[in-house]
Amino acid sequence: MWSAPRLREPVRVPALVDGAVLLRFRFVVCAAIRETVAMDDGVVRIGILGCGNVGGALVRLIDDNADLISRRSGLRLVVTKVAVRDLSRDRNLTFAPGVLTNDVASVVQSDEVDLVVELIGGIEPARSLILDALKLAKPVVTGNKELLANGGAEIYEAAAIAGVDVLFEASVAGGIPLMRPLRESLAGERILRVMGIVNGTTNFILTQMTEHGSSFADALAEAQNLGFAERDPTADVEGYDAAAKAAIIASVAFGARVVAGDVYREGISGVSASDIAAARELGYVIKLLAVAEERDGAVTVRVHPTMVPNAHPLAAVRGSFNAVFIEGESVGDLMLYGRGAGGDPTAIAVLGDVIDAATNLHRGSRGATLGTLVHKPIRPIDEVQSQFYLTVDVEDRPGVLAAIASAFGTHGVSIQSMHQQGEGDEAHLIFVTHLAPEAALAATIHEVRELDTVKRIGSVLRVIGSGT
Ligand SMILES: NC(=O)c1ccc[n+]([C@@H]2O[C@H](COP(=O)([O-])OP(=O)(O)OC[C@H]3O[C@@H](n4cnc5c(N)ncnc54)[C@H](OP(=O)(O)O)[C@@H]3O)[C@@H](O)[C@H]2O)c1
Repeated sequence: MWSAPRLREPVRVPALVDGAVLLRFRFVVCAAIRETVAMDDGVVRIGILGCGNVGGALVRLIDDNADLISRRSGLRLVVTKVAVRDLSRDRNLTFAPGVLTNDVASVVQSDEVDLVVELIGGIEPARSLILDALKLAKPVVTGNKELLANGGAEIYEAAAIAGVDVLFEASVAGGIPLMRPLRESLAGERILRVMGIVNGTTNFILTQMTEHGSSFADALAEAQNLGFAERDPTADVEGYDAAAKAAIIASVAFGARVVAGDVYREGISGVSASDIAAARELGYVIKLLAVAEERDGAVTVRVHPTMVPNAHPLAAVRGSFNAVFIEGESVGDLMLYGRGAGGDPTAIAVLGDVIDAATNLHRGSRGATLGTLVHKPIRPIDEVQSQFYLTVDVEDRPGVLAAIASAFGTHGVSIQSMHQQGEGDEAHLIFVTHLAPEAALAATIHEVRELDTVKRIGSVLRVIGSGT
């Protein structure tokens, strides 16, 4: 028979528990935690896994803002353990003896750690460490988008079983409060769509191209020189980073099991200076958007370069800034804007979660949960409706336009506007369509490409406009 743990004994969750045992277990664990922490007079002991850009900034902030945190929360956060890979690395931080270790598992297991912060990144060992902490009924705070976008459901379920918080504000859009507004402020709202600029590197590159006429290659090189882009920029410029964030956004906004592999993804490496110029002429800017929407019970999640009308609030988001635009059935439109990355902004998001989880731990409660993530159908990209911008290089002779218009008509894609740029060998046509399914646009492009007056299909970009 399982009995209540004595105070200060680590609390272990049985690997397999049935419903009744689980319920009883949760009460016992919470009671044990309440007594344990109350003994410490408002002290909550933090174990931090990883002390890099974000972990290092977090250690500093907990120290620098200790009085402010204590005044606001009534708690004293004490960093008792910090795990790193390389003990010899200079971190410009001073630790008391015994705090810094390269034995990462020992931090999770330590009797001197009430709450675990995971800032290592990647899937393993982060996943196992988080699950181990939750099994010990220790709340977890993480900024790990890669892990949550691939195995979030497992983590959220383990937290629900343990009856403790798992909070991850920093995993999407760094310093911008987004997870908490979605989980708490909008807990009663039916969210229709979330559109975000959630990758600062690509927004910086597109801003340079828009405002300075830079080529993609030059703008990328500048981003790398300024430290906004990695030496290998693939994860950013090809949209993988934004896709991971989009999966997390969709999971939280729609309570659905969405993983990174469900996200349709296109990056910005194919966006040319002439696309940017054409967008400008038409009254748009090009942004890499992560879009998550729920319609008729199905979820769509996609990341792609998008033409955003100049009047839309997302068009004004410049440089490395991020912003997320939320459309709710009752609340209408909301926008959250700020720094999506960087040690200090991200650490502030982590610290907010730490204070929240510590407060709940101290009270023996837990915060708003994600509930059970359900399986909702993911709408294939072919069925998603968008407006499109496309350019077609053509022979400059009579009848060209009629043949192209006929191909559009055959597939039910109606044209909102058409412009001709250049003449002779330089002639190309720019079309913006009304809303059409991706599959219909693909069939149209296939037919247009076959016309003997068409030399080349240039760029194809989705457009957001009013009502799309
Ligand atoms: N940086 C940002 O702007 C940002 C924004 C949003 C979210 N995040 C997320 O926050 C997390 C941390 O990012 P970061 O930029 O701080 O990463 P980072 O600078 O690379 O730091 C990672 C830390 O983890 C430690 N580490 C790695 N593997 C380890 C292991 N096996 N055992 C023990 N320690 C290990 C490293 O130790 P050493 O120092 O000894 O190498 C380092 O201290 C990631 O999940 C990231 O996606 C970051």
